[in-house]
Formats: sequence, structure tokens, C-alpha cells
Amino acid sequence: MHEKLFNMMARRAVIIPTSEIYNPIAGFYDYGPVGLLIKRKIVDMWREIFIKEDGFLEIDGSTLLPEIALKASGHVDHFNDPLTECRKCHRRYRADHLLEEAKKIDASHMTNEQMTAAIRENGIKCSVCAGELDEVKPFNMMFKTSVGAVDGSSITLYLRPETAQNIFMDFNKLFNTHGAKLPLGIGQVGRSYRNEISPRQGLIRVREFEQMEVEFFFDPSEDDSQYLEQVKDIVVPLQTREQQRRKENFDFVSLGSAYENGDIPVRTVAYFMAKEQKLLNALGIMNFRFRHLMEDETPHYSGGNFDVEIPTKFGWVEVISLAYRTNYDLARHKEFSGKNLEVTFNNKKVLAHVVEPSIGLGRLFWCALEHAYVEDKERGWDWLNLPPRIAPYDAYILPLMKKDNLPEKAKEVYAQLLTMFDVYYDASGSIGRRYAKADEIGVPYCVTIDYQTLEDETVTVRFRNDGKQARIPLDILASELMRFKYNGTVEGAKSGLPLIQVQQPKDEEEGKSQ
Ligand code: GLY
Repeated sequence: MHEKLFNMMARRAVIIPTSEIYNPIAGFYDYGPVGLLIKRKIVDMWREIFIKEDGFLEIDGSTLLPEIALKASGHVDHFNDPLTECRKCHRRYRADHLLEEAKKIDASHMTNEQMTAAIRENGIKCSVCAGELDEVKPFNMMFKTSVGAVDGSSITLYLRPETAQNIFMDFNKLFNTHGAKLPLGIGQVGRSYRNEISPRQGLIRVREFEQMEVEFFFDPSEDDSQYLEQVKDIVVPLQTREQQRRKENFDFVSLGSAYENGDIPVRTVAYFMAKEQKLLNALGIMNFRFRHLMEDETPHYSGGNFDVEIPTKFGWVEVISLAYRTNYDLARHKEFSGKNLEVTFNNKKVLAHVVEPSIGLGRLFWCALEHAYVEDKERGWDWLNLPPRIAPYDAYILPLMKKDNLPEKAKEVYAQLLTMFDVYYDASGSIGRRYAKADEIGVPYCVTIDYQTLEDETVTVRFRNDGKQARIPLDILASELMRFKYNGTVEGAKSGLPLIQVQQPKDEEEGKSQ
């Protein structure tokens, strides 16, 4: 199935390997028109749930950051992957991936020395030339560059490895200019860069990617019980550290009980777990787990991390990380910048603590598509069961035939819907073929303009999931499409045309009621 999805995405240019006409460099992708529309809509859902619902702020930061900022964050010294290189042909491998792929050895908890030993003991050699592999060494994953035209006066910069650092550096300014109150949530959608040693698995491990992150700043001495109170009865799939030690999978537990059991470090972490679950469900992703990272997997800055992992054809993939970053980042920037980054709140000086839900947009995009993929032998073509809110187009607009004034009328309908919806006009090929084209990229509706349209100003609206059609008057088409889109939960989308009712044209109705 995964192969079929990838083929469809290539055929429809949903994503395109960057510089494909040359030898594309692994780990870089362009989003084509369909991919971009879906991606934007995922961002819109995130903004609704993570920014607007709580009245958080949002910024858009520069992607190039000075070395000192990333020294402060710890990335210059600690943001490393384990690298081993062939002594003969110099092919480079990520050592933990190599061990997994060559010998199914889980190296996620190993030190570089242990990985070197495991490579030697298992006789693993370069897969290209069978040469000896070097000791495993740390490889910094950041792309380095410099700014300044004069040699000797240039400043070292890095492409940011996470969007978060701009927010930490802007925090005091935003606090002082936006109400001077804690808690304060600041989000950002933007690009980040990691020089992966072995990019692979399509959009899962790439070198340039987008993140959707929130840094939620709070005073740990203030009462945060209301955050847990709001979500304590929400049940989530949680895999605790203890379950991982016992090699067990997750259990469904309420966030309240997980906090009481000590599995969740602070109440706001539970609050953001609920939001993450809400976003995943809104995107049609029902199957996932929260995994409490083990002590040795937890990033250098974190007081506890929960990854959302989603089952895919590549195995369980980390898509969201939720970290309790304590006041690590502000303390480090305070030290390196010499600026006092404490704020005054409730007559106290506070170096704010941070909880951070961080989402990999490309990974989420892939998972939404994979989880929506329907193999449909009966229909004769496969299709995407995307929730209407993230479908690339709300509707395809189709003249039944390319003659008899039908294209002109269809273009009128297209123009009428254009400002409110993403619509696509298609007059090519048979109507069945055009339905198939719409279905395979997840378009929920096909609006067909036929001979009856010319007589009575009605169109047929065909629903993607069951092929059923309803006749809708043109004067309510936009409101009906809007109603369905916004009321259309995944369940709604699966159950036919529940919100559209066939109505008589207005003048007839008025005639009857008088
Ligand atoms: N800001 C967390 C991460 O990039 O993983």
C-alpha cells in the first residue's frame, strides 16, 4: 500500500524530490500544488487548536542563527548523530541505523564505543566496497555558514535545527509588549534543518523540514491545577517507562490518573497531550501512542519527554515530541547573552519554565495520507479518506460534457465558489475518470454541471466516500458545502451526505407557502 501511495504522490506531483531533473540530493522535497494545499490545511488545524483556542502569540523567525545562540542552546556541542565512515571509499553511515539494518540490533541506548564494538563483533563492513569501518564518532547535524563580505570579519551562523530558539530569544520582548503575564504561549511554524547522515523513508527523515512548535512559558510556583482539571477525564494511549522496561505496549489511561501515578511530570504536559490527541483525531489519525522517553533518550534540555508515535509502513514513527524543557533554555541564553531574562510577575522575579509541544509537519502530513489511504478493488481505484478540512480541494467542478454551454456554466459555478473554497475545474476525459482523479487525492465532493443545470439551476454533488449523489440548487451550493466542511467530522465524512438535503428551488417553495 505504501508503494501505491508513493506512486500516486509521484504521479500527481504531490511531492517532488528537489532538483529532480538533476541527481536529487536525498532528504529534500518540494511540495507540489496538491501537497501544499494539504500541508497548509494541516497548519490551519494546528493554529486553531494550538494558537487560537488559548489566545497564544505566533511569530515567524529567521532560520539563520548566530553560533553563540546555538552554543547557548547546547546544539553546537550536543546535537550529534553517531557516524562511522568507510576507511577505503569514505562512504558514511549512521551507526545506529547500520546496526539495525545489518543485524537488527537496537542501538538506540548504546554509546559510540558500544556501537564501535558491536560493528566489529558482528563483522559489519562497508556495503559498497566491503572496506573496514572507522570508530563511531559524533557528527554535528547542523548546517554551518557565515555572514559578512570581508574575510576575517565574518560571523559563523547555522541554519536553525529547531524553531524553538527564536522564541526563547524573543521571549522577554514579547512578554513585555503583550500584557506582561504568565503563562504565555508563543508558537511558530517554520523551517528547520538537520544534516542527516542517511536521509531515508521519504518525508520521514529529511534534511530541511517544517516544525509547528509552541513554547508555553509558566511560573512553576503558580497553581496550574486548572490545566489538568480541563483534561483529566480524557483517555489517551500511553506507554510508560515501566511498560517499556517490561516490553509491553501502551494502555489507555485517563490523563488525570497518569498524572496522579507520577507518569506525567507537570500538569501542563497533560494539557498539551490532550491537544495533540485532538489535532491527530481532527486529521483522521486514530491510531497512535504517547511514549514516555526513557531517561537515556531524553534530550539534554528536558525534564521529561513524551513522543507521539504513529504506526506507519516504516514502523512506529516519532511525529510529535512534547518536552518539559524546565528553564534550561532561558537560563542558558541569560548566561551567554548577559541579559537578565527573568520577568516580573505577581511581584516575583521569575525565570520561566517551558513546556513544548513540537510537531514535525512533513511527518504528520505523511501519516495523515497513509492513514487515509483506502485500497478499493470494488471501485477500481484507490482513494484518500481525508477529513474534508484537510482535503486539498473542497470540490472538483466538472462540466458533464465539453460542449453545449456546459463548460461556460461550470466556470460560472467555479467562479462563484472560488473565494470561499479551494476548487478545481476539470473538463478533461470521461466523468468517471475525473471522479477517480478527485478521489485519489481525497477531494470530498465533485460538483457536476449537466443539462438539467441549464434548465433549473441545480447541480449534482457526488460524495467521495460512497459515490452517492444529491441534487443541490446553485443558490445554496456554497452554504451547503461550507456546512458540510465544518460539521464534517471523520465520522460524518464516512456516513454519506448527512448534512446536505435536497431542496426545491426557492421561488417554487415560496409559491407553495403562499
Ligand atoms: N524543539 C524540539 C525539537 O526540535 O525536537
